[in-house]
Amino acid sequence: MNAVNGFPTRAIIDLNAIRSNMATLVQRSHGTAVMAVVKANGYGHGAVPCALAALAGGATWVGVAQVTEALRVRAAIGGGRMLSWIYTPETAFAQAIEAQIDLGVSAPWALEAIAAAARHTASRARIHLKTDTGMGRAGVPPASWIRTVDMALAAEDALELVGCWSHFACADQPGHPSIQAQKDAFAWAVETAEARGACFEVRHLANSAALLTDAGANWDLIRPGLAMYGLSPIPDLASAADLGLRPAMRLESTLTLVKNVSAGQGVSYGLTYRTSRDTMLAIVGAGYGDGVPRSASGAGPVWVAGRRGRVAGRLCMDQFVSELGPGAACQAGDRVVLFGTGDDGEPTAEDWARAAGTIAYEIVTGIPAHVPREYVGG
Ligand SMILES: Cc1ncc(COP(=O)(O)O)c(C=O)c1O
Repeated sequence: MNAVNGFPTRAIIDLNAIRSNMATLVQRSHGTAVMAVVKANGYGHGAVPCALAALAGGATWVGVAQVTEALRVRAAIGGGRMLSWIYTPETAFAQAIEAQIDLGVSAPWALEAIAAAARHTASRARIHLKTDTGMGRAGVPPASWIRTVDMALAAEDALELVGCWSHFACADQPGHPSIQAQKDAFAWAVETAEARGACFEVRHLANSAALLTDAGANWDLIRPGLAMYGLSPIPDLASAADLGLRPAMRLESTLTLVKNVSAGQGVSYGLTYRTSRDTMLAIVGAGYGDGVPRSASGAGPVWVAGRRGRVAGRLCMDQFVSELGPGAACQAGDRVVLFGTGDDGEPTAEDWARAAGTIAYEIVTGIPAHVPREYVGG
């Protein structure tokens, strides 16, 4: 039985893969500093171990979206540059400032709240002003950019304006006209702010896709997330292997039951699948409660008994069924692989993304905390 304390599913995280993926990204950045993005619990891989592995691989910054998660990572990794950028008016900014976490700022209310917290702690907050260069998500819109820059500069007793940044909407579609438009808008925002007295330590725009497609947007810092976990941000154009990346997460589960059934047996909720012969069914102890997407019902690939099978019928909350065929040599307790590197023929997270009609980001990030993580390497 391979299950951890009887729990059938586990995610095995290869920290050597994360370290070497980061080393590859550092090499491709041609001397530009690299921020390891470990938001959403390190895209499901574990924020702290992944941050440490990425730093060992040559990253010099760590990026975490939520301030609460950033504080946890800071406590574990010690010093070094960190950036965090998602918070609410209720956030305890003083804690972040004292923990020397740089703060991304997209709105005047945040400038005021962070400046007030900095004055309270008698220190200056390091801020990165975000400019909305066209994505229409976070960031200061062009019409209020100059006013917001001036506000930040005027609060120099409390704020140190160290960064200017933005984010691409379509970096995964090389040649998309928005890429050049966003680059131009970013250059305008930087020049305008510098002309008004800003002296940025780092200007940053690129994510994994921008770096790997050579979008020419490196500036002083790049912020790859997905690629450091060994997954391709441009799967239709290049696989992880094509990009020299190695998937770091392997998701395994366990057969909880194997049984013979007759031809015509309906399978799982709705009986949407029916066996066409006398056959064997394997019940796998993982379901959508464990992050395995229900939308991959009837399609999700699985590696059972050394060969590919797939989810038969509807995937349930904590189990699914796969048809093994007559006379398969399997038993309860046998390990199954939902995804891994693909080296031995097992499916990859990208295969699951295709089967579920989503992106690999969602597959790995969606594995909830109750699924045990086991770390190898690092
Ligand atoms: C602001 C920001 N920077 C960088 C990243 C990393 O992006 P990716 O995982 O595509 O490299 C993200 C992820 O969504 C992000 O929101």
